[in-house]
Amino acid sequence: MPARPPIVAGNWKMNLDRAQGRALAATAVARRHEAASTELVLCPPAVYLDTVGAALAGSDIGLGAQNAHDKPSGAFTGEVASAMLVDVGCRYVILGHSERRTLCGETDAVVNQKTKAALAAGLVPIVCVGETLEEREAGRTTDVVATQVRGSLAGLSPEHIEKLVVAYEPVWAIGTGKVATPAQAQEVHALIRRILGELATPAVANRVRIQYGGSVKPDNVADLAAQPDIDGALVGGASLKADDFLAIAKAFARA
Ligand code: 13P
Repeated sequence: MPARPPIVAGNWKMNLDRAQGRALAATAVARRHEAASTELVLCPPAVYLDTVGAALAGSDIGLGAQNAHDKPSGAFTGEVASAMLVDVGCRYVILGHSERRTLCGETDAVVNQKTKAALAAGLVPIVCVGETLEEREAGRTTDVVATQVRGSLAGLSPEHIEKLVVAYEPVWAIGTGKVATPAQAQEVHALIRRILGELATPAVANRVRIQYGGSVKPDNVADLAAQPDIDGALVGGASLKADDFLAIAKAFARA
């Protein structure tokens, strides 16, 4: 089993104000040693990236955005380019989150363009995939996730695939308190790694981190972290509380 450094990212979504964001980041910096071997990323709303980035300065906690446009500049009112995110200190960007796929109509083709743009700008994309409850109950999980991974990562070189992070977030587990069982999550993570092996090479796939997301909490993370293909978590609600976020990060930390 190759060494994959665990990575835990907090997706704050559209939550917290500036002072709260600054305070949460400062607490994460002060307590970073509690999960020293886990790569940590904070993804605040875009308007607070600068503030949170300043609070993270001098620490090794990464700054991430929740979205980026696929064009480098131009007449795209309300959008933010990957290079701008780099400019304010981002190293990561979440792309294709199910909320954006559902609420903003982002297709695999759109996510693919955004992923290419983010990589070209030097960002680490955290590319999200995951099935709905209806799709799972219809026995279509494998099909849906495989299609999303292939579509979102189409045309990427093995070198680029190696750089990115994939987040498996079953839609039915997001914000619902219904976490996937460790076995359900492991099965899909293994599937994603197989597909990454086809898109790149099995050796490259073995080095790609695959996060689980969807109602990850301190009290359910241990069994998820014990799965061989779960390399970290993309955390929503629990990332808004320093205690919970750090406890989750610690569960992935190497002894
Ligand atoms: P919750 O942890 O709140 O379920 O959200 C998961 C998520 O969507 C992270 O991107």
